Amino acid sequence: MKYDVIKSLLKKEAAGRTVTVCGWVRTFRNDQFIALNDGSSISNLQLVINRDEVSEDVRKKISTGAALTATGILAESKGQGQETELIVSTIEILGEADPETFPIQMKRHSLDFLREKAHLRFRTSTFSAVFRIRHGMSYAIHNYFHERGFFNMHTPIITGSDAEGAGEMFRVTTLDLENLPKNEAGGVDVSKDFFGKEANLTVSGQLEAELGAMALGKVYTFGPTFRAENSNTSRHLAEFWMIEPEVAFADIVDNMDLAEDFLQHLIRFALENYSDDLAFLNEREIGEEKNKPEAERNELSLLDRLKFVVENPFERITYTEAIDILLNSKPYKKGKFKYPVSWGIDLQSEHERFLVEKHFKKPVIITNYPSKIKAFYMRSNEDGETVAAMDILVPGIGEIIGGSQREERLDVLIEKCKQFNIPEEHIWWYLETRKYGTAKHAGFGLGFERLIMFVTGMTNIRDVIPFPRTPLNAEF
Ligand code: 4AD
Ligand code: MG
Repeated sequence: MKYDVIKSLLKKEAAGRTVTVCGWVRTFRNDQFIALNDGSSISNLQLVINRDEVSEDVRKKISTGAALTATGILAESKGQGQETELIVSTIEILGEADPETFPIQMKRHSLDFLREKAHLRFRTSTFSAVFRIRHGMSYAIHNYFHERGFFNMHTPIITGSDAEGAGEMFRVTTLDLENLPKNEAGGVDVSKDFFGKEANLTVSGQLEAELGAMALGKVYTFGPTFRAENSNTSRHLAEFWMIEPEVAFADIVDNMDLAEDFLQHLIRFALENYSDDLAFLNEREIGEEKNKPEAERNELSLLDRLKFVVENPFERITYTEAIDILLNSKPYKKGKFKYPVSWGIDLQSEHERFLVEKHFKKPVIITNYPSKIKAFYMRSNEDGETVAAMDILVPGIGEIIGGSQREERLDVLIEKCKQFNIPEEHIWWYLETRKYGTAKHAGFGLGFERLIMFVTGMTNIRDVIPFPRTPLNAEF
């Protein structure tokens, strides 16, 4: 069916044409005015029906959530709040939505409630804005890399390697769980499984992306990743999407430059291309914050936060400097941190948030972490204690990017595998890129949902992915 998208009909220049629209009713007032939304934009089109021409039978079926199509002349609107409106000549109800049971009414629903109705929450202004922006960010990511000579690489989702160590994995098997084949030692005989060995869902495409980068030069992955940690937080999903660029001949500074430029580019893209949706989300946040205690409110509005990130360089500090700042901080001295602070700890979210939100008040790149708390593949620094790792932390979210320069020296890498108990036969293919034509290279992973949280101001990661997977939750 051919129809005109509402987005193209909202400016008064479009008036005068005969058009056909399709969409879902947001509101129906005075038996005469329909606010219709077709998903193309945050704005509704006002449809004006003539009571004498539209039968009562049809009018009774027009209610919030109903789908309909209408044809008429687009006129300049005399009313406030819109430039055009559709003077309806014919209208057809495509699907009714019983007001007694349709759950998405025009009142303010809580996000918790809407999560239970994830199949219908797209119908709200908030979620349609979030998911339009999610699309825009996906497009901008591919575009950013394409324009800079990167190649998109599809790395496997099912993996036979457990070397990454980024998190607990989900097992993939076709074995009959009620009747498992046993080996001589009494354990499960994995040679009888589909792949003839243990297989899992990937936690990252990085190791394979590195193989690609060592020939194609610049590659990136953009795929689903899976982590079975039982962490029920507002920033963790069991299934999330990650973008992982990997660049040959790049060091940690090149890596930081790329990550900073990339993030600023994406946020600028959102500001330029999704201004209506962002203006809506900005107002939404201001409304939400009125109910919060002063101390929990953002100092800057969503739009000001985004502009700030685009306009100001990120702070760059080492892990050792971060620890010094924490040890000299008021909350540390007053015993306000829940977790201890000393060189060698894994920074907790309360520490990261202090650095980003209270101390620097801007995105921070932390480098040179202790090798003990980072992955085996990160390049060892001269000091023998730290690795060329980098995490990027942003206000309100904490870690949004994790990356590093990779260990390209075969002997050092083999030694690291030993320290981390990674058998060489599990990762022989990775080691061979260090044996043949090795070169320095670096890359990082951006959590896509954390990016969407930052751009939209949504504070729960479950609200920026259509159908979240979290512990005890895989509905829809
Ligand atoms: O820091 P992580 O674990 O890094 C890696 O996986 C590397 N292989 C990346 C690389 O160097 N190519 O994860 C990268 C990012 C985090 O900074 C965070 O934004 C996001 O992925 N992330 C999650 N997002 C949602 N839910 C989870 N459970 C996440 N775990 C990590
Ligand atoms: Mg990390």
